[in-house]
Amino acid sequence: MIPRRPEPELMLEPDQARAYAEADFAAPHEGFVDAFAEAFPGPVSGPVLDLGCGPGDVSLRFAARYPACEVDGLDGAPAMLAAGKALMAGHPAARRVNLGEGCLPEARGPRAPYATIISNSLLHHLHTPAALWQAIRRDGTPGAAVFVMDLRRPDSEAAVKALVAQYAADDPEVLRRDFEHSLHAAFTPDEVREQLAAAGLDGFTVHVASDRHMIIFGHLPETP
Ligand SMILES: C[S@@+](CC[C@H](N)C(=O)[O-])C[C@H]1O[C@@H](n2cnc3c(N)ncnc32)[C@H](O)[C@@H]1O
Repeated sequence: MIPRRPEPELMLEPDQARAYAEADFAAPHEGFVDAFAEAFPGPVSGPVLDLGCGPGDVSLRFAARYPACEVDGLDGAPAMLAAGKALMAGHPAARRVNLGEGCLPEARGPRAPYATIISNSLLHHLHTPAALWQAIRRDGTPGAAVFVMDLRRPDSEAAVKALVAQYAADDPEVLRRDFEHSLHAAFTPDEVREQLAAAGLDGFTVHVASDRHMIIFGHLPETP
């Protein structure tokens, strides 16, 4: 197994943010909402917190799938939030999506506590991954539904290169670079299980979802 190589936490470069917001993430992001629906069948209503929302593509897709919810997105990178304005403009679910600036671990969801918390592709950015699990415990209601998707670190440098070639060959250079760095920065499922145990969330499920993704989900404990 190759060692973890962290990348910068926040995506602050305007070029990077623009390329990310303009990329076609329809398949993985719809897959995120599909996987949520499988993990938590049934309706979702009320405020939902999306941690590390970036330009808000997942927030919008989630809001579109669940018309009785409102999504509060939180991200520490002004450039990513600004890049999301184009995605929000004219989107039918945009009036139920509110993206705000805030950096974990200090920032809180504006309407905490939330009965539903989601996060896509934030965990691997964090230098201290406990920040995510602590924020979820702090900002979730007892029994809240929590759903996190992230990359998982490949075994070898060759496997990293193969994934970049398979999934990002036609992407702009800045996105290929970010994808490669993100694969190096990602955790393994076993590392995430250790993080969850340390956070008192060992009831959560960690599931390998694809050749590069894992999903982590469960209900927060009923008692603090
Ligand atoms: C790969 S992007 C994912 C964006 C979005 N969730 C998506 O799926 O399109 C990761 C995001 O996490 C944000 N981020 C990283 N560290 C953070 C922190 N400590 N607090 C808040 N946001 C953070 C970055 O700025 C970036 O926008």
